[in-house]
Amino acid sequence: MQKLVIHGGTRLSGEVFISGAKNAALPILCACLLTNETLRIENVPHLKDVGVMLNLLKTIGVNITVDKKLGTTLTASHLSELVAPYEMVKTMRAAILVLGPMLARTGEAKISLPGGCAIGLRPVDQHIKGLQAMGAEINIRHGYIYARAKQLNGVRIVMDMVTVTGTENLMMAATLAHGTTILENAAREPEVKDLANCLISMGAKIYGAGSDVITIEGVKALHSTIYNVMADRIEAGTFLVATAASGGKVHLKGVGTDTLDAVISKLTQTGAAIKSGKDWIDIEMKGILNSVNFRTAPYPAFPTDMQAQFMVLNSVAKGTAIITETIFENRFMHVQELKRMGAHIEVEGNTAVVHGVNSLDGANVMATDLRASASLVLAGIIAKGETIIDRIYHLDRGYEFIEDKLLQLGAKIKRIN
Ligand code: EPU
Repeated sequence: MQKLVIHGGTRLSGEVFISGAKNAALPILCACLLTNETLRIENVPHLKDVGVMLNLLKTIGVNITVDKKLGTTLTASHLSELVAPYEMVKTMRAAILVLGPMLARTGEAKISLPGGCAIGLRPVDQHIKGLQAMGAEINIRHGYIYARAKQLNGVRIVMDMVTVTGTENLMMAATLAHGTTILENAAREPEVKDLANCLISMGAKIYGAGSDVITIEGVKALHSTIYNVMADRIEAGTFLVATAASGGKVHLKGVGTDTLDAVISKLTQTGAAIKSGKDWIDIEMKGILNSVNFRTAPYPAFPTDMQAQFMVLNSVAKGTAIITETIFENRFMHVQELKRMGAHIEVEGNTAVVHGVNSLDGANVMATDLRASASLVLAGIIAKGETIIDRIYHLDRGYEFIEDKLLQLGAKIKRIN
């Protein structure tokens, strides 16, 4: 199993390019199932989760070519296997995203029910409830969702909670439904809007994506497109926090601040100086790093996917911070590892109280999920001495070329077997 070895104490400095967004690329790749014409998707990040999704689509019968720059062409003219098997869904929950488009296009889908995962229970009841409301017959047997529908029908769906992939699944299904679907209490995440823009470029009629009410007028068929995936706001946020926590100065390329308001506002409170343009962000941290309180919530509020990274920043900031996690019930797994590095953190339910200490100490730690892994990398960069992070396959699911990018910024980091 691979590990990362980091010698801490570097102030990050230099330039880094931000990759395409994992959580936009995954649903956009699934959109190929909605048409028999070819999709060309650009700026697809080089990630394990993307590889799993491409394998799943291949298994279903999609013809795929990937060029060196990861421009990906996908043609789903003949779907041979209308199944997402357990083996794939268990390694990547986003596989559930094939359900809506496959059912809408073919009238049939068999998808393994995802189990619980490291960060929470993560049921998919809203995906199922929405498709049933559109007329699908759904049975759960032997751990699989069996869905059938001769024709999906447009309907008004009020979602019980804000769900990102739930909104994406239903939005994709509704593009080919008969009549108009209205999704209320829809997720406003930029990745939902990016998917909607891709679908619109394929001929879908979607209004209001990016707001909490999305209206989709079903069309008979969708067509080919060329689409460029948006920049990864969470990768960008991770580099921004790493720079602030290490007292560095970094120029981010390929991303603006338009999807990062909540993160930028907290970074400014820590004392970081930030400037930005349409596709660049400069951050510089001088002087005292102040701690910041925050509460995770659906977009445009503070993202749960940045909670662990800000926890590291707070660990070495001046003062005491209160962090409340409201999206996932088990997303503090990094706390025990950070405590082993000398962080002073108390957890009570979904709240963590972080008392800033002068510095962290390098230690052997274990990555437990994707963003927790990123937080341990950040901790290793700012800690005194050597940190060895085990189980880094989590990191490869969501951060493209992470050690190359960090090396470029001066971090002392290497991968060992
Ligand atoms: N939920 C339900 N029922 C449902 C769907 C969701 O109860 O049918 C609950 C979940 O258990 C959770 C909350 O609703 O408590 C929000 O979950 P959501 O469905 O929004 O999460 P997701 O769509 O499974 C996506 C991202 C996550 C990100 C969350 C929240 C993708 C592929 N994944 O997950 O990304 O944390 O939205 O923003 O888009 C990551 O990249 O590290 C990651 C975990």
